[in-house]
Amino acid sequence: MELTKKVFGQFKNKDVYEYTLTNEAGIAISAIPFGATLTKLVTPDKKGKRENITLNVESLEDFVRHRPFYGATIGRVAGRITKGKFSIDGKEYQVDINEGDNMLHGGPKGLDTKLWTIEVDESAGQLVFTYESKAGENGFPGTMQIKVTYTLTEGNDWVIDYEATTDEATLFNPTNHVYFNLTGDIKQPILDHQLELASSQYIPLAEENLPSEEKASVEGTPFDFQTAKPLKEAVLSDHEQIKQLAGLDHPFVLDKAQDQKGVLYEPESGREVSVYTDRNSAVVFTHNGEVDDYLIEGEPAKQYAGITLETQTLPDAINKEGFGDIILRPGETFRSRTTYHFGTRD
Ligand code: GLA
Repeated sequence: MELTKKVFGQFKNKDVYEYTLTNEAGIAISAIPFGATLTKLVTPDKKGKRENITLNVESLEDFVRHRPFYGATIGRVAGRITKGKFSIDGKEYQVDINEGDNMLHGGPKGLDTKLWTIEVDESAGQLVFTYESKAGENGFPGTMQIKVTYTLTEGNDWVIDYEATTDEATLFNPTNHVYFNLTGDIKQPILDHQLELASSQYIPLAEENLPSEEKASVEGTPFDFQTAKPLKEAVLSDHEQIKQLAGLDHPFVLDKAQDQKGVLYEPESGREVSVYTDRNSAVVFTHNGEVDDYLIEGEPAKQYAGITLETQTLPDAINKEGFGDIILRPGETFRSRTTYHFGTRD
């Protein structure tokens, strides 16, 4: 394992460093403490060519100004909370809304906008980020101690471990918003990537992209990824749920029986990413519009420039029956793990 460090930018007049861990196989993860954000992920293709396979903006100013979520730690609660309202033990809360009347991705000052503390353990291949989220931040109760650990293994895994405690009952449902483009060239769309997901149900979206109450079967719909198929078969379909968003932005319910929940494969490069998680869902978003607020490699990020598999408990779980429990109480420790495994196929 090798560690390097360089200045990535400045935040509030302080240097923010980008740390890069590289393993024997030449896989490298880079991350910054701003947002506990993954800024680069380099893997070899089937011929050994090493390229970055994630979407990233190029400067800290772009992260601060445009909040692209690329590679960032999202929380306290990933996805949308309807009207920013919920109750815990009969007590009602109104958190800060930032998308229409709803809260998205932790609110206006979510975890992706915070400068975390970083500690590096080179021999363990770990970047350890910690952050204290004070009671009232984005309207949430409870002061929380949050730890996110990125581990790069010699077995070619990027392991994300979340750990958190609170001093008052609150909500916690984090994710990482990494977008993959396994071609190694973000100018290529992800439409020919093949996706396989251990998911027999998805959540149709209601108004304002909020999850609806009901789980729907994927059988006979473009949402069926139970056997691998090219993304374009779903993304370009005229299914009403997909057409209105010009792509996927849907929660998939992950089947409990399997540990490996998904595989993303790109035939040209031969790159393959397998996803493992202990959560019950992955929100699959296919970067459905061009983003021209900032440039990547001199160009706006195109429609379908990347795909993100946001592992989490189903969104808006606090307001939906049977979506999962995201309440964290004093005395408990929240623990969750998502692993991305990198390989190639001929
Ligand atoms: C999630 C949401 C999308 C969008 C992206 C970030 O996938 O569901 O609607 O907000 O994050 O751009």
